[in-house]
Amino acid sequence: MSPGEKLDPIPDSFILQPPVFHPVVPYVTTIFGGLHAGKMVMLQGVVPLDAHRFQVDFQCGCSLCPRPDIAFHFNPRFHTTKPHVICNTLHGGRWQREARWPHLALWRGSSFLILFLFGNEEVKVSVNGQHFLHFRYRLPLSHVDTLGIFGDILVEAVGFLNINPFVEGSREYPVGHEVPCSHALPQGLWPGQVIIVRGLVLQEPKHFTVSLRDQAAHAPVTFRASFADGTLAWISRWGQKKLISAPFLFYPQRFFEVLLLCQEGGLKLALNGQGLGATSVNQQALEQLRELRISGSVQLYCVHS
Ligand code: GAL
Repeated sequence: MSPGEKLDPIPDSFILQPPVFHPVVPYVTTIFGGLHAGKMVMLQGVVPLDAHRFQVDFQCGCSLCPRPDIAFHFNPRFHTTKPHVICNTLHGGRWQREARWPHLALWRGSSFLILFLFGNEEVKVSVNGQHFLHFRYRLPLSHVDTLGIFGDILVEAVGFLNINPFVEGSREYPVGHEVPCSHALPQGLWPGQVIIVRGLVLQEPKHFTVSLRDQAAHAPVTFRASFADGTLAWISRWGQKKLISAPFLFYPQRFFEVLLLCQEGGLKLALNGQGLGATSVNQQALEQLRELRISGSVQLYCVHS
């Protein structure tokens, strides 16, 4: 590399999903590439002095309603004289058989490091370097793509690791696609259809734009994140901008997931698992859409409809 040449912001194939520091709880994030055997999730934090309970959920999806399945619910409880952990699975809105582990090495006021190590048949959990429990999967691990942390916990860091990044790494980080990028919608959009766009925000981003176009390249609806002023907006066919009042959840060099759910006469938006409301779009215009076009300062890893 010659002096002054800019570093390539594209990650090496074995670099893992960036850790997240001090996220605000409740915290929900996409597990990039989903879970598979050989993956580890590290959680570093502190149990508040007045903690009642917290939970770490490995979820199959991120919708708020209906509630997604939870393949593995890890729930330390501190409000009894004997702190313990409850593990369970939520399937079709129902909790399954609960498993209880006493002798929890976590106390109110103490800091901790929990490792979730995902194997082929079960997940193993260690607390402060000591093996604590194992839990056999009741739902396929491959369905898990979201991590949710809720309740009384101060999270210092969340990390996503592979046991052997050099072996697993290439699977973890498929090659990203450059933008602008176009994705065909041969049948248009119909109620119930979901579009998922996952990617990485590049350094010094300017905007991220998802526009839905018809055959004549008119875009009845466009979603735009503008980094200069930190706004999210819907843009109509005539260029009218309707601001979305929601926190700006895009950060340079962080992964994101945009989900667009088509419903009768409109589109619902979720960003990193948080619902951000809906915009109305004429149903006929939705049916006549033929192209999903993505542009801006991002690298794409997954686009599907
Ligand atoms: C329930 C509790 C849920 C979950 C579940 C696990 O009693 O309300 O939040 O922890 O137990 O079995």
